[in-house]
Amino acid sequence: MTEHPIHWETEGTSRVPFALYTDEDRHKKELERFFYKSHWSYVGLEAEIPNPGDFKRTVVGERSVIMTRATDGQIHVVENVCAHRGMQFCRERHGNKNEFVCPYHQWSYTLKGDLQGVPFRRGVRQDGKVNGGMPADFDPKDHGLTALKVATRGGVVFASFDHNVESLEDFMGPTILKYFDRLFNGRKLVVLGYNRQRIPGNWKLMQENIKDPYHPGLLHTWFVTFGLWRADNKSELRMDAHHRHAAMVSTRGSAGQATGQASQVTQVSSFKESMQLNDPSFLDIVPEDWWKMEDQMPSAVMMTLFPSVIFQQQVNSVSTRHIQPDGHGAFDFVWTHFGFEDDTPEMHERRLRQSNLFGPAGFVSADDGEVIEFSQQAFETKPAHRMLVELGGRDVGETDHMVTETLIRGMYEYWRKVMEA
Ligand SMILES: [Fe+2]
Repeated sequence: MTEHPIHWETEGTSRVPFALYTDEDRHKKELERFFYKSHWSYVGLEAEIPNPGDFKRTVVGERSVIMTRATDGQIHVVENVCAHRGMQFCRERHGNKNEFVCPYHQWSYTLKGDLQGVPFRRGVRQDGKVNGGMPADFDPKDHGLTALKVATRGGVVFASFDHNVESLEDFMGPTILKYFDRLFNGRKLVVLGYNRQRIPGNWKLMQENIKDPYHPGLLHTWFVTFGLWRADNKSELRMDAHHRHAAMVSTRGSAGQATGQASQVTQVSSFKESMQLNDPSFLDIVPEDWWKMEDQMPSAVMMTLFPSVIFQQQVNSVSTRHIQPDGHGAFDFVWTHFGFEDDTPEMHERRLRQSNLFGPAGFVSADDGEVIEFSQQAFETKPAHRMLVELGGRDVGETDHMVTETLIRGMYEYWRKVMEA
């Protein structure tokens, strides 16, 4: 397959070629450089595998991996590829086992990925002699599953195929780490549930979506109508030194009010002034102590950790959103809604209720899946064209307002460097 050539119209990244989203070879190069080398990828929460033997099947990039908890309580991440004939032997999404057995020839592995059993390794005894079997110098120690490097922090598990990757903390950088530690501050996490969706668009569009503070107050009429996200709220956009990760921080109530009645919202016009919720409990928002950061109480912090994950706090709804690419034109998007072990029953209910705003059919985020799909359709039909990313100027830098596309420009600055494009 021939590549669509990349033509940058300008020095910087304020005009992003559609060809960045349309090419399978380029996509494979992205997987190598972003997902399989020099980067940490999200794999899950410790709370998903609380007991020895627990496992969860997931992916790093497009490679199938299994996150396990071994008998000694340690977390391991191994590739789901049998050392024998390469089969993806683990088919369940979650479970508990004391070993993994590949169904093809029943090679068995420990939860750490060590090869422990090879049927007929020493052949079969027939007519007084031994026939077949593995060569005498075959050593199971040389044929374990590929083990990834693992890092955990605040109950979140990351893995990397690259054992020379920098520390997770250096990877995030101090600015993003501060927001990460605010959300994952050591409290025990509780998994509330999952959403899975397939979005027929390039995976980078999801990163862009959460680096784009321009759209929530315009596309998401639900947000605007009920005052949850407003362009004139007090806000901050923050990045790591490479401009690959970001945090969009917004403090509700600093401009308009979320009251469950649209007409009480001022300044920024509402979609439908008189619209009211049949069930106002969706807006039963209770500030929590952990929101506090310096002199602020941010009610929404959307973190993008490049390339694999988004960490969401939208009022009382907290979740991880895992980006799982599948070719250049699609990705699976997996939401893990969670809460905290010390939540009151009321807060538990509140988080569940507010999670209805998110996920594939969420009142808010259903919109994002659609706009990504329709963007991808245009890229495929017009690969020589480009998009405009010029809001807030053409350069890259942190801001204290939302009316800018600087985080997207920053991400593509990093992308150009790593992809040498
Ligand atoms: Fe959105």
